[in-house]
Amino acid sequence: MYTSFKPIVEQELKTIEEAGLHKEERVISSRQGRTVRVGEKELLNFCANNYLGMAGSDEMVQAAKEALDKYGYGLSSVRFICGTQNVHKELEKKTAEFVGMEDAILYTSCMMANMGFFAAFLGEGDVIISDALNHASLIDGIRLCKAERAIFRHMDMGDLEAKLKEQQQKRMRCIVTDGVFSMDGDVASLKGICDLAEKYDALVVVDDSHATGFMGERGRGTHEHCGVLGRVDVITSTYGKALGGATGGFVAGPKELIALLRERSRTYLFSNSLPPAVAGASLFAIQYIENHPELREKLWENTKYFREQMQKAGFTVPESVHPIVPVMLGDAKKAKDMATAMLAEGIYVIAFSYPVVPESAARIRVQISSNHTREDLDKAVDAFVKTRG
Ligand SMILES: Cc1ncc(COP(=O)(O)O)c(C=O)c1O
Repeated sequence: MYTSFKPIVEQELKTIEEAGLHKEERVISSRQGRTVRVGEKELLNFCANNYLGMAGSDEMVQAAKEALDKYGYGLSSVRFICGTQNVHKELEKKTAEFVGMEDAILYTSCMMANMGFFAAFLGEGDVIISDALNHASLIDGIRLCKAERAIFRHMDMGDLEAKLKEQQQKRMRCIVTDGVFSMDGDVASLKGICDLAEKYDALVVVDDSHATGFMGERGRGTHEHCGVLGRVDVITSTYGKALGGATGGFVAGPKELIALLRERSRTYLFSNSLPPAVAGASLFAIQYIENHPELREKLWENTKYFREQMQKAGFTVPESVHPIVPVMLGDAKKAKDMATAMLAEGIYVIAFSYPVVPESAARIRVQISSNHTREDLDKAVDAFVKTRG
């Protein structure tokens, strides 16, 4: 049967290739870390979401091994049949406490959390008002829900207010935003959003995947960074970035809402439990981060230094504080060629161009980690200068 469909699939692949949209995978043969081995080369790694350097750390490996020994490899079950162990409950409790919410529910990724969240409690008669640049997992999760959708211009509080005004007849209004947007590293205006939510009676839902563990004084997230702890209703986030980097996600919020997700959320009900080794190691990661504020301090120090050095070297780096540092180059070919030349210099960075980012906004996205040394940062800046042509 497939033979008659094969040409269709081949044509799709050709179209992707011809549009320059093919995504190449580089194969790493080491742990994820400050450096990675790719083929014969040891590269300085500037493109992982390994903000606190936990992903390849011995401590995380040890924590995962201990959970593996104690709880075994997997559960062969979803949570509500026979897939809940102590470690899952402990992680939910710890996560809720860490981000400052009443309760939390685990998913096997943040993508799954976002896909399972909206349809579980919103429906016809409700509206979801979403930032135009929200992450794909939010967009897809919202699509699975029967609530009406409205999009507000990226971080435009005037437009959000206009949308909220239009939607006052709805049963529930739900504002959804990334805490930090992954292409530009810009931080959502959570203060403005919370003010409007209170004025127009709306829920605030924040996907904090690029913030949990390091944004804010205690690393609790964008809500802590923006001074709105207690004013955001729901946080969705990942254990797959700063909190260890393997996989896993969660929704944290009011206890009734989390209880409803346990009844209705399809990606929770119809999919296996988070592997216990991941749950145990994620629990360890939160405790470790709480006890090691110096990781966050180093991350901020590194980020500030790198941003300053790049600006001094004449590169366009949009204003932000976040360790996602987009180096704006404009032209897609220039960005791609430069990323390849940087690789030859031993610096692993990735270029992004249209349609992932707007046309003529091609860039190399650098991601800083607490485990970079000053020398690593200088090497990266030097490589940018050398390859800019
Ligand atoms: C904002 C945002 N939400 C969700 C995700 C998905 O996270 P996970 O890898 O846990 O599915 C990502 C990952 O890239 C992200 O950047």
